[in-house]
Amino acid sequence: MQLWLCPLIAFLAGSIPFGLLIAKLKGVDIRQHGSGNIGATNVLRVIGKKYGITCLILDALKGFIPVMIAMNLIRIEGKHPALVFDFLNQFALHLSAADQFKGQLVHVLTALAAVLGHNYSPWVGFKGGKGIATSAGVLIGLMPPFGVVLLLIIWLLVFASTRYVSVASITAAVALPVMTHLGARFHHIDNDKSLPTLWEAGTWNKPLFVFTLIIAILAVWKHRSNLRRLREGTENRFEPKKKQSA
Ligand code: G3P
Repeated sequence: MQLWLCPLIAFLAGSIPFGLLIAKLKGVDIRQHGSGNIGATNVLRVIGKKYGITCLILDALKGFIPVMIAMNLIRIEGKHPALVFDFLNQFALHLSAADQFKGQLVHVLTALAAVLGHNYSPWVGFKGGKGIATSAGVLIGLMPPFGVVLLLIIWLLVFASTRYVSVASITAAVALPVMTHLGARFHHIDNDKSLPTLWEAGTWNKPLFVFTLIIAILAVWKHRSNLRRLREGTENRFEPKKKQSA
């Protein structure tokens, strides 16, 4: 029972349209301004930096927290830094190595539900955002830190060279399933048991890989309008601040 509550909680958390609410506090309907997206990038663009950053953190947390709850309630064999909520141990379901696949499936379904909740939020007519910040939140929970850092580096490098948030997001999204595939392969060669369980289970971890593939497809699909604007040369660009001339 508690297994399947996790994705449901995640969908509800993911569906909270923080961008819309933050902009509303400033009397703005974010859907009518900038790119029209309810995500952190558009909140930053239209309302301001500190509101955009707040939105980014909240959108990431609504993915991170449900994944943390799922990982602590449904514990599978192996060490994982995410297993820190000791108070949840009394409710936790300890899965044996044989049930690892089932546990991992619940973890990734919880992650997917959070992203789908954000992308297709019932509170905004199932339109929602593009899922980048919420995906980042769930990935911080699911993936080993080096994977997350690598993705962040890819995002930053592409953003720094193009100044398009959308191009950076799409590139990082496409890199993600490639990384989970390669990462698990390397791990298999290393056979380092101290790495998180999600990177174990055979030559590569199927639930995590399939999840990241779906996340990548969703992200590209949700950036359709950005891709069209890029083709037309009308995509919003974040220009670097000009140095004050003496
Ligand atoms: O995370 C969304 C970002 O990649 C693009 O946002 O507002 O420029 O469409 P936006």
